[in-house]
Amino acid sequence: MVQASAPGKCILFGEHAVVYGQPAVAVAIDQRMSVELSLSNDWRIDGMSFHPDRHPHVEALKQRLWDLGPALSIKISGNIPPASGLGSSAALSVAASAALRCARGRQMVDDDWAEGWTAARPGSIYDGPWTSSKGDSVVNGADCVDEDECAILAHAVEAYAQGGRASPLDSSACAHGGCIVLSDKIEDNLNWIYTRSLNGVSWHVHSVDLSNIDDVWLVIGSTGIHAPTSEQVQKVANLIKEQPGKMREIETIGIVSRRGIAALMSGDMESVGRAMSENHLLLRSLGVSCPELEVLISAAAPSSLGVKLTGAGGGGCMIALTRNPKMTSEAIELAGGRTLISKLASDGMKIDNDDKAPLWDPYE
Ligand code: PMV
Repeated sequence: MVQASAPGKCILFGEHAVVYGQPAVAVAIDQRMSVELSLSNDWRIDGMSFHPDRHPHVEALKQRLWDLGPALSIKISGNIPPASGLGSSAALSVAASAALRCARGRQMVDDDWAEGWTAARPGSIYDGPWTSSKGDSVVNGADCVDEDECAILAHAVEAYAQGGRASPLDSSACAHGGCIVLSDKIEDNLNWIYTRSLNGVSWHVHSVDLSNIDDVWLVIGSTGIHAPTSEQVQKVANLIKEQPGKMREIETIGIVSRRGIAALMSGDMESVGRAMSENHLLLRSLGVSCPELEVLISAAAPSSLGVKLTGAGGGGCMIALTRNPKMTSEAIELAGGRTLISKLASDGMKIDNDDKAPLWDPYE
């Protein structure tokens, strides 16, 4: 058996404004998706026959990493609620990429990759693997798995499953963990890791080290309402068309996000919280909050450093940055929300079991 897992994410700053080029900040959360692979007589997912149209992400990864490979039984588990803006599909795609790569191994040439997907060789990363001449050795198990490759593959298959549109925010946060900043320019003070391009749009992806922050938590409160992201993005686009002055809100969100990032980097959590609450007021003025979110946000505010909706809005989830997660969580639950508690920035993808790797030798 081969098993890999990856975290979900939530957006701390910059949702919606990122669509117009402003920076957005996402952090990995403690809640994870896990994918387990074992050899089987026929293709199965969670004991049922595998239908590619029901699992487009898995199908797209199978085509890229397991073409002509033997049938697998795939078990998917996890505690990230689906369709709530917490990155469950990106986490699944990252974990499945990691598990499939772990189960097939990687061909090497002169101690370097002979095949794979990497930001170091841009150009064809979404089309097919980069391959060199025939390799001279193979690495198996956890040692052949690479975060960057899983992030690229997850981004490509998210885009495939969503009709060509997906930013790399979720896939990068779920692969690398920690804190990820996306922007339309390389941000001077941040650690730029790579630039992704898809359908003529480019995003510069950065990481921010938050490993020294350990005395604050995120409490995530779900309204239980599903509001599709595309509808909320369209709503903001319509608003800006009718009232061009609303671009001021978008630009101000960018300023608040940059202030939030600086506060994160200096460990000033009070300022991070204030920036989050300010970000929420701007999102509200863009029309993407809703009464149910406002109820949970008001309930969480007294015990929190900052509160805001997270993700597309119109339902979905809110987040509270707090030093008292129990009190904040109880307040949200009393107001009718379901809660999850997470560290501020959690770990990225992991191989949890590679005892039986490889499950296939495509290089023989
Ligand atoms: O809740 P999510 O992860 O779907 O967040 C959407 C973030 C938006 O900025 C609203 C849309 C986008 O593509 O960035």
